[in-house]
Amino acid sequence: MTSTTEAAPAAATKSPTEKLGARRPAIIAVANQKGGVGKTTTAVNLAACLAVAEKRTLLVDMDPQANATSGCGIEAAEVEKGNIYHALLGHLPIHDVVHLTKIPHLSLLPSHINLTGAEVEMVNMIAREQKLSNILGDVGEEYEYVILDCPPSLGQLTLNSLTAADSVLIPIQCEYYALEGLGKLLNTIRLIQRHLNKKLQICGVLLTMYDRRLNLSRQVADEVRSYFGNKVYKTAIARNVRLAEAPGHGQPIVLYDIVSPGAQNYMSLAGEIIKHG
Ligand SMILES: Nc1ncnc2c1ncn2[C@@H]1O[C@H](COP(=O)(O)OP(=O)(O)OP(=O)(O)O)[C@@H](O)[C@H]1O
Ligand SMILES: [Mg+2]
Repeated sequence: MTSTTEAAPAAATKSPTEKLGARRPAIIAVANQKGGVGKTTTAVNLAACLAVAEKRTLLVDMDPQANATSGCGIEAAEVEKGNIYHALLGHLPIHDVVHLTKIPHLSLLPSHINLTGAEVEMVNMIAREQKLSNILGDVGEEYEYVILDCPPSLGQLTLNSLTAADSVLIPIQCEYYALEGLGKLLNTIRLIQRHLNKKLQICGVLLTMYDRRLNLSRQVADEVRSYFGNKVYKTAIARNVRLAEAPGHGQPIVLYDIVSPGAQNYMSLAGEIIKHG
């Protein structure tokens, strides 16, 4: 068992496949420090739709609330002794904590409320921002996509996610104050690019809970498009009650109701991401 206060330098933990220059997965962090904007709904359903499109996908739950974990039908008790917390702190190898899901090609690295402790335990560690990046190096080319569901903060768990990711997907809820706090997120992304992860890009901005009947939704969409231009995905995720119900059944929307507008929206988003890389 690795001590929680030691940290190997990033380069030393590269997997053999990485050293040989083998294909790495595309790692996408779903991030916005604002709460309740649709990060988890997007991470779970985008990951599920990529898997339905036969892309080998790993969903990583980086939030101690563990909503992505329960949304995939995995109970807290099942993962108490083996989850992202143990992998991040080096207590267990990543392969020991990855779960298969009911969807072929979709695996889950689950979270648990004990992940809250990781932020505190990592405080004195060397290279603490690189913990996730290092452990993901060990999954090599087993996956084509890795989707990271970030918590609603810019703390250590989000910093780890942005340091490990190739790109960040920013969900924006079509509501009042939608753009509030985005400056802080964009500034954090710039700091990460400068100091920790040069390759990090914004892969896209996603409008969520869009209701085309409401002026407010249309106004927010226009404002977001004029600010982010072609970085905004063509697909907007409609407000759809089936998307809100699905986690209560422990199912991504493609299992819960494949013909719902929510499922169609997330399939279309997955299509855009596969097409544009
Ligand atoms: N398109 C949608 N239509 C209807 N309800 C939605 C939609 N997207 C998300 N929701 C609901 O809105 C709530 C917040 O969504 P979600 O949990 O995905 O946000 P979050 O950004 O992950 O929240 P947190 O910041 O707490 O992690 C949930 O109850 C979810 O079911
Ligand atoms: Mg969430």
